[in-house]
Amino acid sequence: MENKPPNLADYRRLLEITRDLASTLDLDTLLYRIVKIATEISGAEEASILLYDDSAKQLNFQVATNMDLPNMRGLDVPLEGSIAGWIVMNREAVRIGDVQDDKRYFNGVQNATSFDTESILGVPLITKDKVVGVLEALNKKEGHFSDVDEELLLVLGAQAAVAIENARLFQQSDLISEFVHELRTPLASLSTATYLLLRPEISSTQHDQIVNNIHSETLRLSALASSFLDLSRLESGRVQFKYESFSIEKLFNDCREIMNSKADEGKVEVRIEVPNKLPNLEADPNKIKQVILNLLSNAIKYNRPEGTVTLRAEVNKDEMKITVQDTGYGIPQEAMKHLFKKFFRVHETEDKIAGTGLGLSISRQIVQGHRGRIDVESKHSEGTTFIIKMPLRAARK
Ligand SMILES: Nc1ncnc2c1ncn2[C@@H]1O[C@H](COP(=O)(O)OP(=O)(O)OP(=O)(O)O)[C@@H](O)[C@H]1O
Ligand SMILES: [Mg+2]
Repeated sequence: MENKPPNLADYRRLLEITRDLASTLDLDTLLYRIVKIATEISGAEEASILLYDDSAKQLNFQVATNMDLPNMRGLDVPLEGSIAGWIVMNREAVRIGDVQDDKRYFNGVQNATSFDTESILGVPLITKDKVVGVLEALNKKEGHFSDVDEELLLVLGAQAAVAIENARLFQQSDLISEFVHELRTPLASLSTATYLLLRPEISSTQHDQIVNNIHSETLRLSALASSFLDLSRLESGRVQFKYESFSIEKLFNDCREIMNSKADEGKVEVRIEVPNKLPNLEADPNKIKQVILNLLSNAIKYNRPEGTVTLRAEVNKDEMKITVQDTGYGIPQEAMKHLFKKFFRVHETEDKIAGTGLGLSISRQIVQGHRGRIDVESKHSEGTTFIIKMPLRAARK
């Protein structure tokens, strides 16, 4: 068995299970499918994918079956001193019986998880001439990884690489065309404003008004550009979360401080309600702050005068629940299902209140990246509540 080439039935089975890879355009779904197929065809306990970032010359850990993901997503793996790096540089498969004896083994990944790696079968993910990443099957369930396993995983790797490139291109073109579309409105109003400024008949009040308009439109453009970059980095899995243990109550206070003048402007009171002795959350504090700031800024700007916003946190077993509740006008029922979509803004308020429509998409990406979920409840003329639930600890230790 060891040295026999794969038979026709093996290939046929591989073809069958990989058939829909090429049409999977969502990168995350695709990567999960690939690792699942990889464990199946190689008889391994686990499989994982590292994507190669050519500009940074390093690999980023992306997905794995059954591993503690939040800790590892985006984890940098150096080219030097890692098996995956060796595979990228040599563009060859690697088969190792006992990893611990191999000098190329990089145990940064292992340190971040509770998973023990013994044997590895790794193949490069290569499209025509470009290395996209590395697919690794870990720990053969029975016996050793064979020539047949290697051959089949190489074939899967080649198909997977093309599918990954496709999904990436699709994602980029989708995002870029939406972005360009969004640029049109502020650019059109800037162009009108400058045209008006050049007219001799405008009064000085009109002049000031136009300059104010230009100012707020340029602010909006710059917010749009940085939100867009944030989102595209999150979507392509290029963001590495830096996990720390921190106090949510302190983070709430910081966010309230930052939003203080906005809240005063709208005559909105921000309350914080957390139980005594709330345990620390293990997550990326800067990213969670970005989420809370967006939800809080929404709750203030879509509130009514003399309204309130309440930030709450509580812990239930291993889960932290964070809610941001406002007393605003609520969100129309038909808008609820679009709320987390890129650039979506509720039609009734989009002209009155400034925003890019990216805040909630970014927030959801961040929460999901921490293996949590974000939901919303809203009652017309009573208010809206955003609910986040996420693991209290990044991963089991
Ligand atoms: N608390 C809320 N109450 C009422 N409507 C809301 C609330 N939060 C969000 N929305 C609606 O959802 C839309 C999307 O929110 P999101 O935070 O993604 O974008 P934004 O606030 O418009 O812009 P940005 O956050 O990028 O500046 C908002 O434009 C608004 O119409
Ligand atoms: Mg917002």
